[in-house]
Amino acid sequence: AALRIGVDVGGTKIAAGIVDAAGSIRRAARRSTPDAAEIPAAIAALVEEVAGGETVGGVGIGAAGFISSDRLTVLTAPNIDWNDAKLGQDVIQLLQVPVVVENDANAAAWGEYRFGAGRGTHHMLAVTVGTGVGGGLVVGGQLVRGAHGIAAEVGHVRFERNGLLCGCGQHGCLEQYASGTALVRRARGRLAGPDGGPVSGPEITRLVVAGDPAACDLLAEFGRDLGEGIATLVAVLDPEVVVIGGGVAEAGDALLDPVREGLASAITGGTNRPGPRVVAAELGNEAGLVGAADLAVSPEPGPGGPH
Ligand code: BGC
Ligand code: NA
Ligand code: ZN
Repeated sequence: AALRIGVDVGGTKIAAGIVDAAGSIRRAARRSTPDAAEIPAAIAALVEEVAGGETVGGVGIGAAGFISSDRLTVLTAPNIDWNDAKLGQDVIQLLQVPVVVENDANAAAWGEYRFGAGRGTHHMLAVTVGTGVGGGLVVGGQLVRGAHGIAAEVGHVRFERNGLLCGCGQHGCLEQYASGTALVRRARGRLAGPDGGPVSGPEITRLVVAGDPAACDLLAEFGRDLGEGIATLVAVLDPEVVVIGGGVAEAGDALLDPVREGLASAITGGTNRPGPRVVAAELGNEAGLVGAADLAVSPEPGPGGPH
C-alpha cells in the first residue's frame, strides 16, 4: 500500500514520519525549522528521506500557524515569520502527491482523538504546550475549524490585561505565560542550567523529575496559570476531557496536578458543576505528526471546512 506520511512543522523543528493505519510511526526524521521560504523544500526532503523510494499516497502537514479553511495556505504564524504562504501548493509541486495542511495543534488533537487519550470521547479539547500554546477541538467526531479554518487558537485567549507582547500582535495572550518558551523565561533568575547558564525546557523537566524544590515550585505556578487559562475555555466549550500535550506535558502529573488545581480554582460554577477530566496526551509529542498523516488519507471536512 502507498505510504501515508505525517509532518509536524513547529517553531523549533520539523519532523516527518511514516504512519501506519493503527497510528504507529514506522520511520521518522527531523531537522530544525529553517526560514519560512525554505520550509517547503525542507518538508519535501524529509518526506523523501522517510519514504526511501516507496510510493507516497498522501502527506499531511501539521503547521504551527493559522491555516486557511481549504487547508493549503498558512495565513500567519505567531512564532515563525510566515505569512500568506502557499505551503500546500508548494509541497504538491515538489512531491506531486496529495497534500493536506492543518494547524499543528488541530492535527495533534485529531491524533489523540483517533489513537490516543481522546479515543471514544465526544467533546474533547486538546491543548499543546510547546514553543507556543496550541489548541484543537473535536466535537461529535469532527474537528472544529470555525468559519475560516482557525478556531481553537487557545494560546491567544487573553490571560492578562496590558500583559506581555505576543507574536500574534496582541498583548497578554495565554501563550506568553503558559508555553514552553514562557516556562523557560519564567525560570530566569530562579533556576540555573548545568553550566550555570540559562536553563532549557527539558532541563526544567529533568529538575522537576529529580525533585528540585525551586523547579517544582516554578512548574506548579506555571501549571496553575495554564489551568486558569483552561477555565476560560471550559466556560465556553464545556468539554468532557482536556488532553494536555506538547513537550512540557512530558513532566506528567507534576504539570497536570497544578493544571487541575488552577482549573478548579477558576472554573465557573465551582464545585456545583461537573468539569472536564484533565489527562496527558498519550501520543506525546508525536500526536501532531500522527494526526496529520491520518487527515491526509481520510480528509475530514468538519464544520467550517470545505464541503
Ligand atoms: C499558534 C498556533 C499553534 C500553536 C502551537 C500558537 O502560537 O498560534 O497556530 O497551533 O502556537 O504550535
Ligand atoms: Na488549533
Ligand atoms: Zn497571541
